[in-house]
Amino acid sequence: MKTFDDIELRRPVLAQAYLALLAAQPGRPLALFAPRRVGKTFFLDHDLAPGARQAGMLPVYADLWLHKSAPIEALNHALEEALDDLQVPASRAGKLARTPVKKIGVLGASVDLGDEPQRRALPESPALRLDALVTRLAARHKGQILLMLDEVQTLGEAADGVPLVASLRAVLHKRRGEVRAVFTGSSQEGLARLMNTAGAPMYQFAQIIDFPFLDDEFLRLLADHFSKVHPEKALALDDLHQGFSKIGFKPALMRDVVKAMSAEGVTDVSQGLRNYMTSDHQVAVWQALLSSVDTFDQGVLQVIARGEPPMSQATLQALGAIPGSKPTISKVRSSIEKLKRGGFLSKTIAGTHLDDPLLAEFLLQRTTG
Ligand SMILES: Nc1ncnc2c1ncn2[C@@H]1O[C@H](COP(=O)(O)OP(=O)(O)O)[C@@H](O)[C@H]1O
Ligand SMILES: [Mg+2]
Repeated sequence: MKTFDDIELRRPVLAQAYLALLAAQPGRPLALFAPRRVGKTFFLDHDLAPGARQAGMLPVYADLWLHKSAPIEALNHALEEALDDLQVPASRAGKLARTPVKKIGVLGASVDLGDEPQRRALPESPALRLDALVTRLAARHKGQILLMLDEVQTLGEAADGVPLVASLRAVLHKRRGEVRAVFTGSSQEGLARLMNTAGAPMYQFAQIIDFPFLDDEFLRLLADHFSKVHPEKALALDDLHQGFSKIGFKPALMRDVVKAMSAEGVTDVSQGLRNYMTSDHQVAVWQALLSSVDTFDQGVLQVIARGEPPMSQATLQALGAIPGSKPTISKVRSSIEKLKRGGFLSKTIAGTHLDDPLLAEFLLQRTTG
């Protein structure tokens, strides 16, 4: 039987639109921006890659966030694996046929057929290696490569970020007939820094697109399943929409909330959200999350959740109440940087805020007791 966990929304039309956009501007990547946990990776995996395959392209995925300290190696590794996948069947058959007939005696003399001429080794330098791998892969596949670089803002944080972006840009431009690229980014600030730093090579390079949240279709699927489980009950789509917006359009979280509502037989969405947020399980999750940073950072999070200016005199004074803290502006600033890197905080044009609106609310409730 289908469960809430099986509910997935596919977006093939969106994938087609992006592929068409890529085809219309060879050499120019798309950079899909959206906050964390709204479905970027899921989309690459379930919609964009299949769409690309259908169009005869070979999708190659690299998660740069997972390999923050060596992003270009992560990318090269993904390309090498794709190349291996294409070569394995051919070379295995080749090996079987070749080994037994290495030497053939002709009238007593021995003719050494030797090995096939080896492919030239790949260059050592990661940038040249990237170029060589893309070319080889496209030639092997006999079609275009779609590079999918997840969480690309990580490049802006890597030690050798700028030259690396330069080589990526050069390869994508030089090989524009063979390769297309889609990036994703979770940090608007990081992405903007990467794309717009004056003089940086990514300047005006990629087309930055706001990646759309899942629409009401996803909520309708949840509501339909709810009514299947509880034939006499229904969830109002408007209320679901409000709830979804309140939790920042995170589908996995929304599914969990509706699942809990279903278990309790609750149909009032705001009640369901309140129950979910105050459940022992969720409180434990947030407490564990908070205890991954020190008490000073937790204090800074509280301040930002309350919408107070984190570097004001009043804030510094209030933070002084935390045992062992000697708050200074620079201490607050480095705490904010740390919290951004940890995914707790995001910066947008509206200012620095908590990435997770529910965590913000949890902190607020803790303050007001
Ligand atoms: N289209 C979708 N339909 C159903 N669930 C989704 C969908 N997209 C994402 N999710 C759920 O949300 C979770 C987080 O999505 P993910 O793609 O990892 O977010 P992001 O890459 O933006 O951080 C996924 O693990 C999945 O459970
Ligand atoms: Mg992701």
